[in-house]
Amino acid sequence: MNKIRLGILGGGSDSLIGVVHRIASQMFDKFKIVGGVFNPNLEKNLDFAKKIDLPQNRIYKDFETLVEEEIRLPIDKRMQVISILTPNYLHYPMAKKLIQNGFNVICEKPLTTSHAEALELELLQKEKKCVFAVTYTYTGYPMVRQMKQMIADGVIGEIQKVDLQYYQGWINPIIHDIKKRSNTWRLNPEKSGISCCIGDIGTHAFDMLEYVSNLKVSKLLSDLNYLYQDNPMDVDGTILLRMSNGSKGLIRASQIATGEENNFTVAIYGKKGALKWEQENPNYLNYLSENKPFQIFKRGNPYNSNFSEDGVKIPAGHPEGIFDAMGNIYKGVAKAINNEKCFSGEYPKLSEGVRGMLFIEKAIASNNKGNIWVEL
Ligand SMILES: NC(=O)c1ccc[n+]([C@@H]2O[C@H](COP(=O)([O-])OP(=O)(O)OC[C@H]3O[C@@H](n4cnc5c(N)ncnc54)[C@H](O)[C@@H]3O)[C@@H](O)[C@H]2O)c1
Repeated sequence: MNKIRLGILGGGSDSLIGVVHRIASQMFDKFKIVGGVFNPNLEKNLDFAKKIDLPQNRIYKDFETLVEEEIRLPIDKRMQVISILTPNYLHYPMAKKLIQNGFNVICEKPLTTSHAEALELELLQKEKKCVFAVTYTYTGYPMVRQMKQMIADGVIGEIQKVDLQYYQGWINPIIHDIKKRSNTWRLNPEKSGISCCIGDIGTHAFDMLEYVSNLKVSKLLSDLNYLYQDNPMDVDGTILLRMSNGSKGLIRASQIATGEENNFTVAIYGKKGALKWEQENPNYLNYLSENKPFQIFKRGNPYNSNFSEDGVKIPAGHPEGIFDAMGNIYKGVAKAINNEKCFSGEYPKLSEGVRGMLFIEKAIASNNKGNIWVEL
């Protein structure tokens, strides 16, 4: 079998992101799902495996058993890479055990629930030299990759203003109802970590900013909103930024922006022009300039970079979306596992997950200390 043997933790029939990973992993015929733990309830786990037509012999009751049983298998049968798609608090123990036992890992964001845990994983990975991806899904979109390339090529000149907005409204009908609130794991610090909104979606914006701009965030000041005094988790926030080149900007994230769905927009303004991209309209990249008319770059055209075009499967005009973006990340991971040459930035590395955790902790610290500037 030439395909990479993939195991999955979480992502069962009751999950949001599971189907995205399952479909993405199949897109370039590089992976075969061979087993996993899709649900903490063994019966539901086995039922789901049956539903997706997986043999039952590699469906395990928990991740510890998966590791124990898999390492007993001959190396050419054993799972080669395992995707972690569970609620956040399980990422660290699962990833740690997997790295220690020689598996490659694909892990959902946020990487862990603390920066210290993330640093520990980074040390372990350096020692064991495994492939480790953190699925900041949006970096897999061809027009995001085109944006990164155009900024690197100097098309918009020196960056002078950045503005990233990630607005959702799904917590609005939950936050005002104490019962619903307590049944949502993202609002439970034991399962989610120290942050809800910034940890869940602010972290996508942060990673995207550093990814496309090739700059680092050097300082931030955050103003978070919890809405109710007895709610321990932020559901909205505005974060002012200083970038490593001295430019200024902001990340604004909300899960109580009533009526919004997944409105993630990225705007980078340079001395010569600007580039803007919208997640709900991902096949287009808007280019603004003082001297030329407004231009729209479209996915799947030869004027785009090789990196952008490498992530395109069907000709221009046939819309691609989030499944395809995740598919491109899986493609990069497959290249890394097979020791093939990757484009720079083809899949988000563990170091990006570590930066993401630092950002979350600093955003919470800034807010808790009375909205002060903190260094990253
Ligand atoms: N990259 C993205 O754009 C994106 C989008 C959504 C979610 N996520 C991330 O994916 C992760 C999961 O989010 P979700 O929205 O799919 O959550 P979810 O609650 O919808 O699904 C979680 C899944 O994990 C399973 N699970 C729980 N405990 C388990 C255990 N001990 N062993 C095995 N399986 C277990 C549940 O049964 C369920 O199938 C989170 O870390 C989240 O931040 C990322």
